[in-house]
Amino acid sequence: MKNALNPKVWPITAERKNGEITVGGCSMIDLAREFGTPAFILDEADFKSRAHQWRDSLKKNFGDNAGIAYYAAKAFISKDIARWIDECGLGLDVCTGGELAVAIAASFPPARLEMHGNNKSESEIAAAIDYRVGTIVMDSLQEIDRVARIAHTKGVVQKVLLRLTPGIDAHTHEAISTAHEDVKFGFSIASGAAWDAVLATSKHESLQLQGFHAHIGSQIFVTDAFETSATRLIGMLARYKQEFGTELPELDLGGGYGIAYVDEDDPISPETALSKLSSIVTEECKKNQISIPTISIEPGRAIVGPSMITLYEVGTTKDVQLDDGSTRWYISVDGGMSDNLRTGLYQAEYSVALANRESSAELRRARIVGKHCETGDIVIRDIQVPSDIVPGDLLATPATGAYGRSMASNYNHMVRPPVICVHNQTARIMIRRETEADLLALEIDDAPRSLPSREKGQ
Ligand code: LLP
Repeated sequence: MKNALNPKVWPITAERKNGEITVGGCSMIDLAREFGTPAFILDEADFKSRAHQWRDSLKKNFGDNAGIAYYAAKAFISKDIARWIDECGLGLDVCTGGELAVAIAASFPPARLEMHGNNKSESEIAAAIDYRVGTIVMDSLQEIDRVARIAHTKGVVQKVLLRLTPGIDAHTHEAISTAHEDVKFGFSIASGAAWDAVLATSKHESLQLQGFHAHIGSQIFVTDAFETSATRLIGMLARYKQEFGTELPELDLGGGYGIAYVDEDDPISPETALSKLSSIVTEECKKNQISIPTISIEPGRAIVGPSMITLYEVGTTKDVQLDDGSTRWYISVDGGMSDNLRTGLYQAEYSVALANRESSAELRRARIVGKHCETGDIVIRDIQVPSDIVPGDLLATPATGAYGRSMASNYNHMVRPPVICVHNQTARIMIRRETEADLLALEIDDAPRSLPSREKGQ
C-alpha cells in the first residue's frame, strides 16, 4: 500500500491533502466524525461522469442504431441514483419488484425501464406492465405464457426481448459467469430452446418480440467474449428473417464490463469496448444480410463500482503465529462481510489505503478482517500496509460501489452502513445507517392462531 492513490482504482475526485484522503473535497476524518464508520462514500462527480461516458460511447459508436444504455440497478440503487440515471439520459435495468419499486418511487420514465429476472412473480409482472415498462426480458417458456396472459388481461401489447444463452465461457468467476450452457438463465441457442421460445412468443398477440438479449457474465476484461455473444445473437436475427420474412429491431448485449480493484487490473474503456462491438455488429449484419439492429447495453459495475469507497476504523490488531513459524498481522475493522461479501464469495481482491494520515513506515504484510463471528470474514486476504497502523486509524477500501451496499446483510445483527454522497466540498446522507431499533422493529408479538381453513380441493 503506497500513499499515492491510483486513479484507475480510486474515484476521480480522490486525492491526498495534507496527508489525509479527501473525496468530493470532503476529508475522511471529517466524514468519519460526522457520519461514523463504516460508511460508503459516494463520489457524485465520478458516478455521473461514468454514466455519461457509457451513454456517449454508445451513441458515438452506434449512431442511429444506438439503443439504450441501461444502468443495472442490481449493482446499487436508490431513488437518487434512479434520478441521476434519468437526468444522464440512461435507461434502468431492474430485476425484482423491489428494484422496480425504487424506480417507480423516483418517477423513472417507464419507457426507459427494462424488467429482468429468471423467476418473476405474477405480481412483479403485473406491476411492471401496470407501470408500462418499455421492455420485459423473458427467461422461460412458462414466463412467456405468464407475461402474455397478464398483458392480455390488461389490454396491453408488451414489448419483450428473449434472453438467450450464447454458450460462452467469459473467463470470470463461476458464480458470476452466466452464458455457458449449464446456467439457470435464458434459452440456449445451441440446444434449440431459443428458437422454441421465438415460436412460443410469436403465438401471443399481447407480446411484441423486439429481439434478443444476452448477458455473458460480470467483471470481464476481454472483448472477445462480448463479440462472440453478439455474433451468435445476430445469427438468431438472421434466422428470424429467414423464417418469418421480417426483421427484429433490437439486440441488448448486457453488462459485465470489468473495473480495476487493484493496480494490476486492466479494464477496457467504454470507447474500446463499444468501438470493437460496433465493428463486429456491422460486419456480422452485412455477412448475414440483415439491417443493423438497435444496440442496447447494461453496465452496472462499470458505472457505480469505482465511484464509492468504504471507510472503516481500525479496532484491534494482532500477530498470529502460523504453522510455518511465520507471523500473520491481522487488522480488524468495524465492518466486514456484512458490507463486503465479495471477498468471501468470489475471492475478490481489493486495495486499501490509510485514510487519516500518510505514513512513511516500512510496509508489512497484513490481512484486513471484519468483526463478524466467522473466520471467512475477510475484507482483504493479503496486502502490504504501513507497519505503524494502530487502532483508531481510518482505512479506505476503493471500488466498493458495485455489489457492496447492494449485497450487504445484517449478519450478526450488524446494521448496514450509510451511503454518504460527497460533491463539491459538501456531504449528505443518501441512505442512512440502519439502527438496532430498525432490526428489532421487524419482530412482532403475534399470538399463535390457526390458519384460515381452505375449501376442499384448493
Ligand atoms: N444485465 C444483467 C442481465 C445482469 O444479470 C447483470 C449482472 C448486469 C446486467 C450488470 O452486470 P455488471 O455490468 O454490473 O457486471 N454480485 C456479483 C455480480 C453479479 C452480477 C449479476 N448480474 C459481484 O459482486 O461481482
